[in-house]
Amino acid sequence: MPIKTTPAKPFDVAGALSRTGEAKTFAIKTFGCQMNVYDSERMMEALAADGYVETPDVEAADLVVVNTCHIREKAAEKVYSDLGRLRQVKEARKARGRDTVIAVTGCVAQAEGAEIVSRQPAVDLVIGPQSYHQLPQLIARSQASRRAVIETEFTGEEKFRSLSPERRVSSPSAFLTIQEGCDKFCTFCVVPYTRGLEVSRPVEAVVAEARKLVTAGAVEITLLGQNVNAYHGADETGGAATLGDLVNRLSDIGGLKRIRYMTSHSRDMSADLIAAHGACDKLMPFLHLPVQSGSDRILEAMNRKHTADQYRALVAEVRQARPDIAFSSDFIVGFPGETDEDFEATMSLVADVGYAQCFSFKYSPRPGTPASGRDDQVAEAVKDERLGRLQALLESQQRAFNDATVGQTVPVLFERRGREDGTFVGRTPHLQMVHAAAKADVVGRILPVHIRESRQMSLRGVIEAI
Ligand code: 5AD
Ligand code: SF4
Repeated sequence: MPIKTTPAKPFDVAGALSRTGEAKTFAIKTFGCQMNVYDSERMMEALAADGYVETPDVEAADLVVVNTCHIREKAAEKVYSDLGRLRQVKEARKARGRDTVIAVTGCVAQAEGAEIVSRQPAVDLVIGPQSYHQLPQLIARSQASRRAVIETEFTGEEKFRSLSPERRVSSPSAFLTIQEGCDKFCTFCVVPYTRGLEVSRPVEAVVAEARKLVTAGAVEITLLGQNVNAYHGADETGGAATLGDLVNRLSDIGGLKRIRYMTSHSRDMSADLIAAHGACDKLMPFLHLPVQSGSDRILEAMNRKHTADQYRALVAEVRQARPDIAFSSDFIVGFPGETDEDFEATMSLVADVGYAQCFSFKYSPRPGTPASGRDDQVAEAVKDERLGRLQALLESQQRAFNDATVGQTVPVLFERRGREDGTFVGRTPHLQMVHAAAKADVVGRILPVHIRESRQMSLRGVIEAI
């Protein structure tokens, strides 16, 4: 589920000193998915432990990290326009006698490596997602050599083992990566090439990190993985735990009130995970289950390894286990060879399932992926028209879902203050955003909210009891 965010929580650790004797500062810009948000938090922790202090102002930063996304062409190209702006900042700072280190991390770093430095020579460091634990050493190496350093080795679990066990939280809703990489090789997707093959973290490590997060103030944890329900982490007996097992283990943590997970593949929705949705109160009734297309022909060409009806049957099975569960999905329109009939099959699948919210994209050919080389690419204008129609349907479903909440009282976990004074923003179990006013600080609390008003993307309500 792609989002764009810039974590801006300052870490007030006694700083490393620059040549002028001041604490060194850093800024991180994060693009792409939740896993990048998690990775940025871990890099912030590594830098803070090394004495750096975070600044929200890129122009004041001695180190700028751009944590990138390669999933679609637009996302990847945005990185280069950003780096162009950063080069100007670097030059302006240089004129004032200050050095700036520019580091590119994330999936563009992994996919393009040294090419990034050729296209933008102001870049000092290119670090793939498996090497973040080495960030402070790599910075030191590039400064000592005065040359760009490229580090894109795949090291499996090494990163997680080497990252500090201490955790901070910037929100009561925290992310925790439990699995990385993907073996599915959907023919449109770069993830198996940028994040590597599936690696699951051991149960013990995940439980220990979850406890740290809860101690630091997390009330909700979203377990992350590119293929999270393929989780098969080693347990204490030497066996492999499933995601269902892990959810049950985590639900024993007293202060943890809500558990979510993403992103799942239909082929890995095992019976025990579906059962956990029925049995575990802490597992929230919301499932992001991307289907991409409703046409069997396209699903096969995408290498999704299931049909549209198998997906419909799966949705029905999960609904039987947890009748109030809400679904979300990702869709791609204009995959090579997609006909009007294929697209209509997607529209009818959406109509059958009924989603609470979704993400939808025009197919974007990605270098090195099998589908990018096909000679039956769909015209841009056709993609635009299909995306418009699909989004209109998805938006009407989201609106209907939100409208149906009006008049109900729902438990809301408040995550942050709102823009207007005295307002707070939180989420329902179904992941709907809720705005409400409160006299006291309610961040981190789950409170009953009577929903009065519904909008396309959010709800407004009144807190019933504090
Ligand atoms: N073009 C368009 N969308 C893509 N996605 C992944 N690869 C591509 C691509 N080449 C979408 C899929 C995936 C989501 C994270 O991004 O829908 O589920
Ligand atoms: Fe990409 Fe497919 Fe793996 Fe999802 S399941 S990360 S779309 S290859």
